Order: sequence, then C-alpha cells, then structure tokens
Amino acid sequence: MLVSAKEMLNKAREGKYAVGQFNINNLEWTKAILLTAQELQSPVILGVSEGAGKYMCGYKTVVGMVKGMIEELGITVPVALHLDHGTFEGAKACINAGFSSIMFDGSHYPIEENIEKTTTLVHACDVLGLSLEAEVGAIGGEEDGVIGSGECADPNECKMIADLGVTMLAAGIGNIHGKYPENWPGLSFETLAAVKEKVGDMPLVLHGGTGIPEDMIKKAISLGVAKINVNTECQLSFQAATRKYIEEGKDLQGKGFDPRKLLAPGFEAIKATVKEKMELFGSVGKA
Ligand code: 13P
Repeated sequence: MLVSAKEMLNKAREGKYAVGQFNINNLEWTKAILLTAQELQSPVILGVSEGAGKYMCGYKTVVGMVKGMIEELGITVPVALHLDHGTFEGAKACINAGFSSIMFDGSHYPIEENIEKTTTLVHACDVLGLSLEAEVGAIGGEEDGVIGSGECADPNECKMIADLGVTMLAAGIGNIHGKYPENWPGLSFETLAAVKEKVGDMPLVLHGGTGIPEDMIKKAISLGVAKINVNTECQLSFQAATRKYIEEGKDLQGKGFDPRKLLAPGFEAIKATVKEKMELFGSVGKA
C-alpha cells in the first residue's frame, strides 16, 4: 500500500523503533527493498533524490514503477514514496506526480525563507494527505554533487519549523551522507536531546545512516529518532557483490552475461543490507 509516512512514523516514535528510508536507483533496488519489507513485515520508505528521479526518467515513471510493483508483487506492508532532499520546485513536481511523502530541504536558506517555503508546502501536503519532512542544519557529506560539512541544528530554529505543522523533522546532529571520515567525532546527542526537548512529539529523522555504529543508532532512537535514511550502504553492498561476480568470471560462463543473472548477486546483497538495517532499527513485524 502506498501511504503517507505519518502514521508509520508516529507509531515508530511511540514504539521506540525507527522506520528505514532506503533510497532507490532503479528497478532492482526498488524490488529488493519492497520484497524485504514484505518478508519482514516491516513498514518502509522508498527515498528518491532529485538526481535519482531524473536518472529513472522522471517522477511519474517512478510512481508508475512503484505502484505497479506494489500491486504485482502483492506488497501489503505500508510503503511511503518519499522525495529526498527536495528543492521547492522538486517538491511541487513530486506532489503532482503522485508521491505520498515529500522532503523539502530548506536548510541552506536563511531560516525566514526556510519557514516561508516550508509553510507553503505544509498547506499543499495537508490538503492532499501527504507527509512532509523539513530540515534544519545541513547534513554534511556529498549528495547529488553537493558537498556540505555536518552541522548541528539550532534547537530554537527546529521548534520554529516543527510548529509549522510538518510531519517529521531532520535536524543536523553532526551526521554526514556517505562514508564517515576516520576522525568523525560521532553524533551530537547533546544537540539531539536539546532538539527533542523543544519539538516534543515530532518524529525526528536521522540522515546519513551509512556507517553509524549500532550503539549510536540505538541511542538516537531512544532520543526520538523515528526515521533513518540509508543510501550509500546499499550501493556499496551492490558494488561488492557485482564486482565479485565479475572477478570470479561468472559473467563469462554460460549465460552469465544475462542481466537477470549479472544483477542477481547485487540484488541479493541489497536485500541482505536492508534486512540487517530493519532488524537494527527494530521495525521488523511492525507493519
Ligand atoms: P547515506 O548515503 O550516508 O546512507 O545517507 C542517506 C541519506 O541520508 C539520504 O537522505
């Protein structure tokens, strides 16, 4: 079922677990994530960055693929199709294309402009029953070619954005997209606790899920994180399995060149990574 992320995240916050957002890049990614969610009876959020949306031939193509798969694969667990780090224009395009959840990332704007743009989208999403994620304090690392350093959000600004009526809030707590550098000081739980105190019951979102140690993930969930985004880790699993297949010369044996064979180990590797994350986040059996 394609649904807004609101109910699944409120349940997660109450139940002290987190729902994974796994970013999709193509058919194999989407199928692997949906099948794993169904097998584990876990709610799931499919994340689509603007770059990935373009790569997959536009948001309408993505909506068609996801809706078709949910029906044809008999997926009954709650699935949200979510724009990841959307621009204002991207958010509008995804609303029109039929996404069930939107992230508007106004973290790089002055707070007044972030508030103004987020407010417009709160109204649009309310009318259509879509969930909306807002962001305060830029997440570091590289995404779609944009490189930022991990910031810690101002808890007062978080409250201003939360009060607009968004569904969930991503607050920078020293997290970074992609692999963490050797000298990364870790998540700022001080910031997370201060944000939580200001925003109360609002489900919090932790970006940059790849490579965060298990104990930090668990502590973040205990402090109000109800959604955790994972992207790079599935890419690395896919890459390692595909590399192994080719290095072992399997693509040269029989019909090993058939894309359905060539992409199968990578597909299985994504499934294993998603399973591992769902178990760690505690969302198994919560559909
Ligand atoms: P990673 O690529 O570090 O897992 O981050 C994903 C993310 O936060 C998407 O918004």
